[in-house]
Amino acid sequence: MNKKTKPLAARTLVLTATAILSLSAAGWASEAVKGDPAKGEALHEKHCIACHAGRFDGDASKMYTRPNRKTANLAKLNSMVGYCSQQLGLQWFDEEVADVAAYLNGKYYQFK
Ligand code: HEC
Repeated sequence: MNKKTKPLAARTLVLTATAILSLSAAGWASEAVKGDPAKGEALHEKHCIACHAGRFDGDASKMYTRPNRKTANLAKLNSMVGYCSQQLGLQWFDEEVADVAAYLNGKYYQFK
């Protein structure tokens, strides 16, 4: 058929593959992001405490220290922070999730 479309299609494929590779490289890098607990504390104070506190007679820290807590490791903590922030519609960057996870980990969970 049309011979001119083939090289173009091939080139598009290479470009797409390159884009996917650099995207996943960015994803890998962001997994290694070390959060800043001070920034995380401020974010947590602003967006997260009130609702948790409402569930435990005003003591928000009980969400993280209750015996049947859901979070068993650092990866789970990150994903809970990501999940709760998404539920709030906050659209946090991975860095902000990592900041809050670092704060909560330092103060409550102390996972390695
Ligand atoms: C509208 C209420 C609400 C808000 C706002 C909220 N959370 Fe939560 N969060 C919950 C509830 C309810 C649970 C318990 C879920 C369960 O037990 O399955 C929870 C659980 C968690 C847990 C897991 C606790 C455990 O069991 O170890 C983390 C971590 C957490 N939230 C982080 C956050 C962060 C960070 C924010 C702010 C971005 C936030 N939450 C905002 C309702 C909320």
